[in-house]
Amino acid sequence: MKKPTPTDGTRLVYLAAGIAALGGMLFGYDIGVISGAILFIKTVFSLSPGMEEIVVSSVLLGSFVGAIAGGVLADRLGRRRLLIGTAVVFGIGAVGAALSPGTAWLVAARVVAGAAIGIASFVAPLYISEIAPVGIRGKLVAINQVALTSGIVISYVIDYAFAGSQAWRWMFGLAVIPAAAFGVGLTFIPESPRWLVASGHADQARAVLKRIRGPEEVEGELGEIQRSVARQKGTWSELLGPLLRPAMIVGVGLAIAQQITGINMVIYYAPTIFNFAGLPSASAAILASVGVGVVNVVLTVVAMQLIDRIGRRPLLLISLAGMAPSLFVLGLAFSLPQLSGSLGWIAVVSLMSYVGSFAVGLGPVFWLMLSEIYPLRIRGRAMSVGTAANWGSNVIVALSFLTLTQVVGKGATFWLYGAISIGAWLFAYFLVPETKGRSLEQIETHWLAGGQPRA
Ligand code: BGC
Repeated sequence: MKKPTPTDGTRLVYLAAGIAALGGMLFGYDIGVISGAILFIKTVFSLSPGMEEIVVSSVLLGSFVGAIAGGVLADRLGRRRLLIGTAVVFGIGAVGAALSPGTAWLVAARVVAGAAIGIASFVAPLYISEIAPVGIRGKLVAINQVALTSGIVISYVIDYAFAGSQAWRWMFGLAVIPAAAFGVGLTFIPESPRWLVASGHADQARAVLKRIRGPEEVEGELGEIQRSVARQKGTWSELLGPLLRPAMIVGVGLAIAQQITGINMVIYYAPTIFNFAGLPSASAAILASVGVGVVNVVLTVVAMQLIDRIGRRPLLLISLAGMAPSLFVLGLAFSLPQLSGSLGWIAVVSLMSYVGSFAVGLGPVFWLMLSEIYPLRIRGRAMSVGTAANWGSNVIVALSFLTLTQVVGKGATFWLYGAISIGAWLFAYFLVPETKGRSLEQIETHWLAGGQPRA
């Protein structure tokens, strides 16, 4: 057999990241698909507005539960094995929704799909981060966010394609294809060498490192992981103790910031917002939504190219600095009736600039940093706390957005998100560290030695 060279190793890492990122794609597809499917389901199952809301948000509930359960599982079972299990659950959720005889069944299937999303949302970045070489770690983890945003666009396009025939079952069912590719692909890629060391399988970790690194790097990296693991207790009390408190504040704070600055009001309600803004027809509103989705993908690709070069912090700060004014302009467009002629276009442009700003920083940087800032032996559990905070805040925004627009008005709702973006910028400026160019072991050693975020 040919001896692996560093180039072969890097190729395998890219392949492994690409396969793990199918988890991100399924995440995006499964949250996006409901927007089109619901239009038909509500007629077929005669849903009341309340039931419609339950059908739509059941996936978020499942994700929250999956995020909580996934942490212990990731630390116990391993990253790859858990992802394989998740692929099966994704498949069950997709087929289950497609075959739904009634509402209760459909809700159950969506909760099941949600559980898979909640787990994959953080275990995919976690796995990629742990196999990546330091210098391209940001880029590789960002592939997951590119896949996620592409999954959203693909779901819109599939919804659009099946809308004519009202084939909502196919909209759900087709997700079984990427789920199968995800599950089968995962059986060909190696387990995370870091998890193998943490669970006492140093020899297997060495074998994996030999496949994904140059021969001269293997022992150095293995030794660094082993020394770092030896310093960790791997208990909940370590995670909640004073040394890791700054890291918990960064992870949970960014998790909440990513959601309460409003991104999912756009992902879930873009056509509704465009209707508010007076776009001429439903199809124009849907087309504008696809445009928003494409901007989301393109700017995430830009972030992927920049994230290891200019760093995580600058992208985060630029991102929030772009989101805040975009939201203020959006709010203004909804508050000035005399602008009504051009109102629609101002809304479209400011919404695009808001989404583009999110995509270039806060979108990918949050998931990346969450996968970087916690010590190995408790990484799964720690990420699951941040992920649960992210999904919990996601539910709150999804359930409050429309009510907020009715109570305080549309303009004020966007201004509120804008004001929160300024708060998030200050949080990032003062509390979020730079992780570019540092190995995961250097980052964990820093915290465990009592280091502060900005030191
Ligand atoms: C967020 C999701 C959001 C997506 C949009 C992700 O990073 O966690 O809540 O729907 O980005 O692109």
